[in-house]
Amino acid sequence: MLTQQTSYGAFHIGDRDALYRKMAEAIQEASGTAESFSLIALTGGSTPKAFYRWCVAQGVFDSDQLNAALWTTSDERHVPRDSEESNFGTAERLFLDPMGVREENRIPWPVDVDPHSAGIVFNRLWAERFGEHRGFDLCFLGMGEDGHTASLFPGSPLIGLETEDNFSCVEVPGKGWRLTINETGISRCSRICVIVTGAGKADAVHDVLHSEPEDSHRPIQLLRRYAERVVWLVDEEAAGRL
Ligand code: 6PG
Repeated sequence: MLTQQTSYGAFHIGDRDALYRKMAEAIQEASGTAESFSLIALTGGSTPKAFYRWCVAQGVFDSDQLNAALWTTSDERHVPRDSEESNFGTAERLFLDPMGVREENRIPWPVDVDPHSAGIVFNRLWAERFGEHRGFDLCFLGMGEDGHTASLFPGSPLIGLETEDNFSCVEVPGKGWRLTINETGISRCSRICVIVTGAGKADAVHDVLHSEPEDSHRPIQLLRRYAERVVWLVDEEAAGRL
């Protein structure tokens, strides 16, 4: 695996297996204890699905290890948990269920209320259980071809939003309502792991590193501020233009 230091954090470039091993290591390193749970956010998209299947096939974790963490997702679509579109539901079906993660270790987004209320309920739950200023010990993020991350899309009203809350709801044109970690939430994470796979991401990966954030309007470039806490796991196809 090739490692390259950049102004956006350390880039690790390798094949899918090497990437999945690094993701598993990040989870192992973030593992808490029965007295002090760690907080881990999984992400949506196609890359984590492949990782979940790999974990189950490889048997890389034991359930005690995973039950020392509390699990949610860094963003969520406002759909029922049993929908194929649900990031948390997908994580449950492909990862948390087969790995034996207990129900009480799961923190799904409250999609049974309207999106505005869901944002309020989730921020309140977080503040009461963990303290308002607590961030994730480990937060996985993906990146879209347009440079979006979580549900922070180019032109989003959430970009630059000043708030004490870690999470927001937002209507994304053409994609419906989303619940997402916002910039405040990202700023509070101890460790961020960005996973990027596939040739379709090669231009975006190149542009992140070679354009100024104010010129490119790629929300993922906000990670530059937290570079020392950010690790990128990029497959060879997505790194094709580096
Ligand atoms: C989602 C996430 C989104 C995703 C990226 C990358 O729910 O889809 O909000 O930010 O992580 O679009 O997705 P891929 O892994 O499919 O490339």
